[in-house]
Amino acid sequence: MNNLLKQNSFYRFSYENKKYVFFSGSQRILEIGNPLMDAYFTLCTGDETADKISDNEIAQITATLNSLCTPPKHPATEPRQDMLTLNVTHGCNMACKYCFASTTQDRKEVMSLSVARKAIENMLKANPASGQYTIYFFGGEPLLHKSFLHEVVAMAKEEIVGKRGKKVIFLINTNGTLIDESLLRLFKEEKFTVTVSMDGPEDINDENRIFTNRRGSYRRIIRNIEKLKEHHIRFNIRATIHPNTRKLFKIIRFFETLKVPYSYAFTMDSGTERKYTFDFGEIDLDRLDQQLAECIAYLVAKRMKGEPIYNLDFCNGLKTLKDKTVRLQGCSAGRSNLIVDEQGRYYACQNMLPLRETSLGDVNSGIQENRLNEFRSQDVAQLDNCRQCWARYLCGGSCLNERYLHGSQSVYINMKCRLIRTIWKHRIHSYIALESFINNMSN
Ligand SMILES: C[S@@+](CC[C@H](N)C(=O)[O-])C[C@H]1O[C@@H](n2cnc3c(N)ncnc32)[C@H](O)[C@@H]1O
Repeated sequence: MNNLLKQNSFYRFSYENKKYVFFSGSQRILEIGNPLMDAYFTLCTGDETADKISDNEIAQITATLNSLCTPPKHPATEPRQDMLTLNVTHGCNMACKYCFASTTQDRKEVMSLSVARKAIENMLKANPASGQYTIYFFGGEPLLHKSFLHEVVAMAKEEIVGKRGKKVIFLINTNGTLIDESLLRLFKEEKFTVTVSMDGPEDINDENRIFTNRRGSYRRIIRNIEKLKEHHIRFNIRATIHPNTRKLFKIIRFFETLKVPYSYAFTMDSGTERKYTFDFGEIDLDRLDQQLAECIAYLVAKRMKGEPIYNLDFCNGLKTLKDKTVRLQGCSAGRSNLIVDEQGRYYACQNMLPLRETSLGDVNSGIQENRLNEFRSQDVAQLDNCRQCWARYLCGGSCLNERYLHGSQSVYINMKCRLIRTIWKHRIHSYIALESFINNMSN
């Protein structure tokens, strides 16, 4: 029937014996409270066995609900680059089994200060109007080159704060094993936000996060986390998890007990020649579905008891649903954020560093606009395989790099999309469970 809502504009589901619809676009959740609406949505999903409902009723309901499915307008202007990621080095003191950063012992070359300076100058020139810029140190392991960090911080402050009177924010992603007193002072004085990579309790972390001598890194990281706490440095943890993990709940409980803000991301393939497998299958997805339900129930119960929640993904998901935030791109790659490698080559994001053909130009010759358009995160509206997906404005189209490597129609992308929808399904459930609680808190 033509005048029903399109199937890609809503997601119908049951939770705790009640029926609901989530509307893509407005991000609103509606409880299906009467048999007429139930019959309507049953029909919408193509089920001809739905209870009788007249054409007139269908037309009226569709007219009422249409505004909830209206795709958001794109902003008139694009945000310009105000974040620069410096890939300090490809070298690393670790050899994590899943690593996409193609770190090898023979790539310990470090970025020169002149490359960093040029990249900062380019950003300031391209976007002089911003009041605040962010410099993000990445790698390889950026803490292998401490003097570089100290020098870039001094130079960036001089260029951004001293000469222009603007703000600068420093971020770093580190494996957390090389933190010393001078770095603790730098992080503290310059108000760094430090992201420490750690995958969970010792047995889980040390499965993949190993030093080049194959020893596990857990004990060293835990010691350094204590130092970050003692020095009151703003930091969080990032865990990398394979979608076929059997231990997601154990990981979540471990981090909640550690009482440090953390997020987690599932492993992704970025084309490096590794033996590590990034594939996961139906069974893994089913298992993850159950595990996510268990994790969410645990976090919801914690929240209901008024206990703090350290899981940033959970908190951000609730905030997205509460604020009805619409995501038009999967990330800021090649838009507000660009990455520069040791040789001064620009890339849209760190996942593309192993793929030389995705380079956008370099700090001396500048960005090639046509390449930027090709490799930056794309608008979800332009992505064929997203048009039919109810979660498209929650996910924004996910990772362009993975689509580039595998093709939009691949089994790999199909599984990744199903995983993303499963994650959002559980976030929506938790939002429903906590909605009145959240609204009361903000009143
Ligand atoms: C590449 S490392 C670089 C910074 C630093 N050496 C560290 O370990 O945090 C940055 C983050 O990427 C994650 N990572 C590495 N390979 C990955 C992959 N294949 N999929 C998803 N995340 C990955 C790491 O676990 C780490 O949290």
